[in-house]
Amino acid sequence: MASPLVSLPQAANLRAAVCAKSHSVSEIMSNILEIQQLVDRIYEKYRSIDEGEVATYIPELAKSDPAKFGICLATVDGRVVQAGDWQHEFTIQSICKPFAFQMALEEVGREETLKHVSVEPSGDAFNSIELEPASMRPFNCMVNAGAIAISSLIKKDPVESGIAEFVGKMERAAGRKLRIDMDVLASEAATGHRNRAIAYLLLNCGIVDPGVNETLHQYFSQCSLLVNCHDLAMMAATLANMGSNPISGEMVFDFRYIKDVLTVMFTCGLYDSAGDWAYRVGLPAKSGVGGGIIAVVNRQLGIAVYSPRLDSKGNSVRGILACKDLASELGLHAFDFTNIGSNLIQSLF
Ligand code: DON
Repeated sequence: MASPLVSLPQAANLRAAVCAKSHSVSEIMSNILEIQQLVDRIYEKYRSIDEGEVATYIPELAKSDPAKFGICLATVDGRVVQAGDWQHEFTIQSICKPFAFQMALEEVGREETLKHVSVEPSGDAFNSIELEPASMRPFNCMVNAGAIAISSLIKKDPVESGIAEFVGKMERAAGRKLRIDMDVLASEAATGHRNRAIAYLLLNCGIVDPGVNETLHQYFSQCSLLVNCHDLAMMAATLANMGSNPISGEMVFDFRYIKDVLTVMFTCGLYDSAGDWAYRVGLPAKSGVGGGIIAVVNRQLGIAVYSPRLDSKGNSVRGILACKDLASELGLHAFDFTNIGSNLIQSLF
């Protein structure tokens, strides 16, 4: 296990001190009703947009209802605002990737994890078949190659127990029981030849072990987890809340690694749209071809939007539009002068 910057007892004390002195979200967003009205306005503004196409390369995803559109925001003090089809379930797809990265960091440490995956934006599509030339590692854990490498790190023997661990972690972050969509899983497994090619390339380069079938089963299962906007907003809020679920109070993620995860979400979460996203929205985020998108306002808020019509880069069209509006209306961009951002240092003094 690699050594993090602070020991576990030090980390626990630091976290407690920060929590005790943090400004609550009620101070930051004084009127939750105003936030609800804003979310309702954004929902109405974009509900009739029908640009983009539902993903079809995984045949089961083609059955998604393109009209569905949901938004949910969860604050780190446990308040939730939602609109539209926020209860509608869909598969998490690539939004599993930051959480799997977090699990790898927790399980094998930073040093070992980074032997298997880099942290550079690739500027290429999520399914591109390329590795960092010097190290032969995948560019980052958000593209498929990196996520497959991460799956090989967190899979267990038997493979179903590693999948159960992943699902269990996601359940604690979402705050409810979750299940895998077995039809989507079968569809991914039957058609995922490109991911199989990536996995064998990784085996050839010594990045993953020979248990390629188990690694892919772990990866496809993670992608096939059914969630709704409320689940995703709670998961994002758990990241924002230093690893603790804002409603249950349970410590789900080791907060020493959340910085790693948010950084890679910020630079790589939207693949070859990551620069445009960082420029216009300015939040760590992750999209999935199921139509979901999450964004994290560190120490404040988790955001989730669902709309299955995707742009040419595999990102939800209305998801991006809604997040852009939320970021500009609430001043959430990391470098917006109105964003108080992480108040860790301020809260300690
Ligand atoms: O590997 C795949 O193709 C899918 N299971 C996940 C891809 C995905 O969600 C890309 N994100 N926009």
